[in-house]
Amino acid sequence: MDGPRSLLSAEFDDLVSTVNEIFRGRPGDQIAEEFPHVYTLTNLSNLKIIKKDGRIISHAGFLPRLASILGCAVPSASVGFVCTRKEERGKGYASLLLRDCMREMERRGLDFLYISGSRDLYLRLGAARAGITHRCTLGRLEAPKGREILVEEALERDAQDLTRLHSQESPRYFRNLTMTKTLLKGAQIRGCRTLVVRRNGHPSSYLSFAIPRSPKGSKVAMVQEYAGSREALLESLSSVMKAFDLDGMTFDVQPHDREFLNVLKKHCSIPPTSRLPEGTVRVLNLPRLIGRLTPALEEKSNGLFRKLKTEPEARGFRLSLGGESRLFSDPMGIADLVFGHPSKEANATAKETRLKLGTLLDHIFPVPLVWSGWDCVLY
Ligand SMILES: CC(C)(COP(=O)(O)OP(=O)(O)OC[C@H]1O[C@@H](n2cnc3c(N)ncnc32)[C@H](O)[C@@H]1OP(=O)(O)O)[C@@H](O)C(=O)NCCC(=O)NCCS
Repeated sequence: MDGPRSLLSAEFDDLVSTVNEIFRGRPGDQIAEEFPHVYTLTNLSNLKIIKKDGRIISHAGFLPRLASILGCAVPSASVGFVCTRKEERGKGYASLLLRDCMREMERRGLDFLYISGSRDLYLRLGAARAGITHRCTLGRLEAPKGREILVEEALERDAQDLTRLHSQESPRYFRNLTMTKTLLKGAQIRGCRTLVVRRNGHPSSYLSFAIPRSPKGSKVAMVQEYAGSREALLESLSSVMKAFDLDGMTFDVQPHDREFLNVLKKHCSIPPTSRLPEGTVRVLNLPRLIGRLTPALEEKSNGLFRKLKTEPEARGFRLSLGGESRLFSDPMGIADLVFGHPSKEANATAKETRLKLGTLLDHIFPVPLVWSGWDCVLY
C-alpha cells in the first residue's frame, strides 16, 4: 500500500478520472469542472490518496478556508469527495485517509472542519451534525412585486460586484476576486443560475439557485447562495420565479440573518423550520478556536470571558472559570456547544444560571457556523 499521502501533479488526471468514475459513473473530468476550487493543481497537497499496485484505490479531498465568524478570522477546512473503489470498500481505507487528513489539519492550525455528509464513517471519526439554519419556501404567488428592480444573469465581469456583496456577509469564507470567478464558473457548470439584482441600475444583491431536474411535480428552486440587500432580493423573487417558471424558492436562512427571516416569515404561508445543516462538523482544537474568537466572545460576555481558562488534555479539552471546571471529551458535545443545535435553540430561555461557568458558556455559545454556499465541497 502506498499512502495515505498527497497527490503528485503527474497523478492529477488519474485522480480526477477515478473520482468521476465513482461519483458520475464514468471516467472523465466533469468533477474537476464542477468543483474547480477543489480539483486544481494548487490544491494538490490537500488531495489525499491511497494507492495499491500502482492504482489509486481511495481518496479524500479537503480545502483549507479562512472563515469569518463574528468578525474573527478562523482557519478551517471543507472535506469532501471521500471515495474508495468498489472492490476495496469495507477495508478501512476511507477511515485511514480521513484520520490522516484530520491529523494534518490539526498540525496546520486549522480549528474546525466541515464534511459535506453525515454517514457513519464521519460520525465514527467524531464529526457531528451541529449548527442551525431556518428553511423557508416562498411560493410564487406569495412573492411581493418589486419596483425599479432589474435581474440579469451574472457574468464573469460581475465578479467584482459579487465579491463586494459577499464581503459584507457574516459569517462567510473570505473570498478574493479570483476565488469568486472560480466559484461562479463551478456553480454554473453544476447547473446553478446566478442572477444579479440591480436597483436603480446599481448591483444591490445576487442569488444563485439550482433548478430541480425533475419535470414532474412542483418546481421549487433551492437557493445555494445569496448576498446583499435583502429588500432588493425579496422584490426580485416574483420576476425571477416568473422568468424561470418556478412554483417557489427555498432558502436556508442563517441565524444571524434575522431581518430576512422575519420578512420571509411575513410572506410565506408555511412557517420556516429550524434544521441542522446537511453536513457534519468537527472541532479540531477547542482552546485554539476559542482563542481565535476572543474579541467576539469578550463582547458577548461583557469581559467575564477573560477569566475563562482553556487547556487541552489527553481525553479532550478542559474549560475552567474560578473554582469550576468542565472536561469536554466528546467531539459531538463540543460541536453542539460551539455551533448549537436546533433542539437547544427552542430551549434558549432555559439557560443554566446556577454555575458561573455554565452561564458564561451560555452567553458565548453558540457561534454561527459558516454557510458553505458556493464554497461547498460535495459528497
Ligand atoms: C463511503 C466510502 C467512501 C467508504 O469507503 P471505505 O474505504 O469502504 O470506508 P471504511 O472501510 O473506512 O468504512 C466503511 C464503513 O464501515 C464503517 N466502519 C469502519 N470501521 C468500523 C468499525 N470498527 N466498526 C464498525 N463499523 C466500522 C464505517 O463507519 C463505514 O460506514 P459507512 O460506509 O456506513 O459510512 C465508500 O463506500 C464509497 O466510495 N462510496 C461511494 C462514494 C460515496 O458515497 N462517498 C461518500 C459520500 S458522503
